[in-house]
Amino acid sequence: MGALIPLIPLIELSALPEGRGRCVRTAGLDLAVFRIGDAVYAIDDSCPHNGASLSNGRVQGAHVSCPAHGLRFRLAPGCPGNAAALQARTYSVRTVDGTVMLDAVEPASPGNPTSL
Ligand code: FES
Repeated sequence: MGALIPLIPLIELSALPEGRGRCVRTAGLDLAVFRIGDAVYAIDDSCPHNGASLSNGRVQGAHVSCPAHGLRFRLAPGCPGNAAALQARTYSVRTVDGTVMLDAVEPASPGNPTSL
């Protein structure tokens, strides 16, 4: 396990439109952050297939599709992984006083591409 990332602010919840991603660069990470209903999610912004920005992907339910070739990823942390070579890391986030925060307590886990 690498060093823990401290709890850090990512984006104001009010700046995160429903069902669309925002790229947030912080702490050496490029994250795609999503708001879906009352939930917020963060995943590596770079698609493991060929590096497209997942923050520009289309959201369906709690999944995002890569805008380049359509690989789908579950956004929720802790989903069981498959296709080890094509996983995007997800991160635990929470909203504190209207700000989406990267949570350092729970370790990051790989996302789960569900189809190409
Ligand atoms: S770059 Fe994402 S599926 Fe190809």
